[in-house]
Amino acid sequence: AGHGKFFVGGNWKCNGSTDMIKQLVGELNSADVPKDENVEIIVAPTFVHLEQVKHSIQAPYQIAAQNCWHEPNGAYTGEVGPEMLKDLDVHWVILGHSERRHVIGESDGHIGDKIKQALSTGLKVIACIGETEAQRDASEAFSVVDRQMAAISKVVESSQWDQVVIAYEPVWAIGTGKVATPEIAQEIHHHVREWVEGEVSKDVAKGLRIVYGGSVSDKNAGELAERPDIDGFLVGGASLKAGPFAAICNSH
Ligand code: G3P
Repeated sequence: AGHGKFFVGGNWKCNGSTDMIKQLVGELNSADVPKDENVEIIVAPTFVHLEQVKHSIQAPYQIAAQNCWHEPNGAYTGEVGPEMLKDLDVHWVILGHSERRHVIGESDGHIGDKIKQALSTGLKVIACIGETEAQRDASEAFSVVDRQMAAISKVVESSQWDQVVIAYEPVWAIGTGKVATPEIAQEIHHHVREWVEGEVSKDVAKGLRIVYGGSVSDKNAGELAERPDIDGFLVGGASLKAGPFAAICNSH
């Protein structure tokens, strides 16, 4: 921790029903989460639940979408443009999540186009990076995140970096219960920060929030958050339960 406000995002992925969300939002509203200026908490429901969450969730929670298209609107059946999110008063979007990269097949280039469009629309972006298990085993973790960071930094203008949070989510840790050790996560976060220092600027590197995702729980968040370059979390499974999620929000 230590770069800007501590950031915790809850990525609800493709989960929820109106009843389930009613209950979860009720519990989140009464959960004991930090309400100070130094912590930012975001929840990301599916597109169809954004409106419901927006009308029911209270401060300090903010809302993110889990994806958006790289054009504002048009003939793109099934897609949602960033303007539409902005119009709904949604200020954040997750882009480049590993499930979009590896299950849906989004490329670095396409993710870059989406990030560019989202930022120019005025949305803040949680941009995800991370290597697969095979890439780590082949000692490619650094080169994979470098390549992903290069595609991101290519489209982020220098004045836009404070609208970006980088989420390091090693694919082997997502939904597996196999959380990265604090050493492994710190090593990559530090590497990414050094990459940004070299390729973007010292100031951007200093202010950039790099959060960790992949089997984060109320049990392991504390020791991860102690590491100097881990500035928060992007939480999947544990974000669907108010108690554990609130504990993670309090872990800094
Ligand atoms: O975006 C968060 C996510 O990919 C991590 O999921 O379930 O391992 O916390 P989970």
